[in-house]
This record gives sequence, C-alpha cells and structure tokens, in this order.
Amino acid sequence: MSATISTDVTTAARYLTKGKLVAIPTETVYGLGANALNETAVAGIFTAKNRPSFDPLIIHQSSAVRVLKYTKFIPDDAQKLADAFWPGPLTLVLPKQEVIPDLVSAGLSTVALRVPDHPVAQAVLELVDFPVAAPSANPFGFVSPTTARHVADQLGERIDFILDGGPCRVGLESTIVGFPAGITTVFRKGGLPLEAIEECLGHPVAIRTHSSSQPEAPGMLTKHYSPGKEMLIMTKIAAFYPIQPADAVLCFGNWPLADHASAAHVFNLSKSGDLAEAAANLFSMLRMLGSGDYPRVWVCPLPEEGLGRAINDRLWRAAAG
Ligand code: TXA
Ligand code: MG
Repeated sequence: MSATISTDVTTAARYLTKGKLVAIPTETVYGLGANALNETAVAGIFTAKNRPSFDPLIIHQSSAVRVLKYTKFIPDDAQKLADAFWPGPLTLVLPKQEVIPDLVSAGLSTVALRVPDHPVAQAVLELVDFPVAAPSANPFGFVSPTTARHVADQLGERIDFILDGGPCRVGLESTIVGFPAGITTVFRKGGLPLEAIEECLGHPVAIRTHSSSQPEAPGMLTKHYSPGKEMLIMTKIAAFYPIQPADAVLCFGNWPLADHASAAHVFNLSKSGDLAEAAANLFSMLRMLGSGDYPRVWVCPLPEEGLGRAINDRLWRAAAG
C-alpha cells in the first residue's frame, strides 16, 4: 500500500468517515487524522506512528462551538483564548466529555482541543460530524512534517490518504495551554507566542513544559524532534567551536555567519532575522540536515522572545541525547 496524495477534500472526508487514517494539512504542521469517536481508527494512529499509548491526542473541529462541545467546563481564561485565537495555533486542554474514548486522552480526565486555521483543514472538518484526532504526522520522536511530501516519505506506506494543502504557514506545532488546579499553564511552547497569550489575558501564565519521566504533554519529552544526527548548540559565549569542513551550520539572521563564514555548509533559518520565517523553515531544514551528508550539525539559538522561544525549545530537544 502507498498513500494517495490528493487535494480532494470530499474523498478525505469519506475516508475519515470509513475509519481510515488521513493526513491533513494545518497551519502548524500536518496531522495524522482519524475519527476521534472511533476507537479502532484511533488505535491505527498509534500503530502507524509507533506512538506510546500514554501519549494523548489533540482533537480538531472547524469552529469553537463544534469543538467545545467535547468539554464539560470552560474556564474564563480558556474562553478568552478561544475567542481571541481560534481558529489558530492554540490547543486548550479541558475536562473531557465521556463520549471521547480513553484511548484519545490516554486515560486522562482532560482532552486537548484545537480549531486549525487552514482552509483545507476547515473544509474537511466541515464535512464530518465527528472530531478528528490528529497528532503530528511523523513517526514518534521525529521531526514534524510541514509538507505532504514529508508525510509521504515517512508514513506513506502506513496510511491511506494524504490531503495536500501545500507547505504549512506557521511551521511549529500549536501552543498547548491547560488549567491544572485552575492555574492557566503553558504545557508546550508553539506557534502562538507566550506574549500574545499574556497580553490577551492581562496576566502572566505558568509554564510547565519540562518533565522527563511523567510528561504532561509528550512534546515535553526531552529527546524529541530528532533529526537522526549529532546536533550541537553554539552559544555566543564560547569563542571557538571545532567545526569541521564537512559539518553543517544552521544560523539565524547575521549570527554566527561572521564567525563561521568559512564553514562549507551554512544554512540560514531567516537571513533577515524574521522569527516567523524561521519557524516556517525550521522542520524542513532539520529534515534536510538530518538526511544530508554532514557528520555534525551546529545550530545557534534564536532570541528568546516570541516564536523564538518555541524554536529554541525544538532545537534543544533535537540536540538532546
Ligand atoms: O499543531 C499541533 O498541535 C499539531 C496539529 C496536527 O494540530 N498536532 C500535534 O499533535 O502537535 P501531537 O500529538 O504531536 O502533540 C500533541 C501534544 C502531545 O504532546 C500530547 O501529550 C499533548 O498534546 N496532549 C494531548 N492531550 C493532552 C492532555 N489531555 N493533557 C496534556 N497534554 C495533552
Ligand atoms: Mg508531535
């Protein structure tokens, strides 16, 4: 079996309705979708991804009204964030309704909800009368896909249909926000910057994105986003790096180009220093560096602000281990 790659939204909806796996474009990354109310279909996601079953899934629908019906309770902050940022790169973790299978929530009493901001995702979600469970469409632990081709390369033999919506505009997974003990908490840094969340709410939020043993959100596992090769983070403090001619260097803006202009393989996430452009390029470049003939990849951290926080998070994890 090899997946059909197509732009046909109606066929994608029909496959989902039949309980099949369909890769779906979103503004963040491609998702591996299945009917969230069909446990057999959801089980297929875990098999296709080799995903540990402790890792819960996000469910998607086309509007706040359609997705919020799967929660029992909406805290004020959650409502404000939904009003401000849906559709968009935000996931809200809220108390789940019984109709959502335990397999989706990995036995938790909460469920992760999202309304993607992509015309093709919107169109297919409009056509189905169930929520679509969709993790990023990559094998567990690897870099998330931002084109239909990325999905086909890694999962093409394991799924039926890839809905092609072009390259993902944001390029980083959604920011995940939950409300443990009533405290608004970021579980995963992502495509919606922290600053935007705090500005919307008018107060600071808690951040709990690291845990190596019992991850709240497995995007929190330290080693994740693996490009399958040694990656080293450069800091501005160290004056000297033993960069070999065959190594690759991944830069941002004008740093560290000046120091390493002699390195043979220099790539730039955004020459103009634009964080949104860097985010959109990140996963394709990690893939390219992972499959390229470079013994090691040196990366420089980005400014720790806006989307730079989520990009740095992915770079650190890619470099871990
Ligand atoms: O942008 C995105 O969020 C993409 C697109 C496809 O929507 N999806 C995505 O899914 O990144 P995934 O499965 O790769 O990451 C979802 C994260 C996981 O780290 C999971 O642990 C967390 O969401 N999550 C899901 N349900 C949760 C829950 N009830 N409590 C805490 N974290 C949860
Ligand atoms: Mg993922």
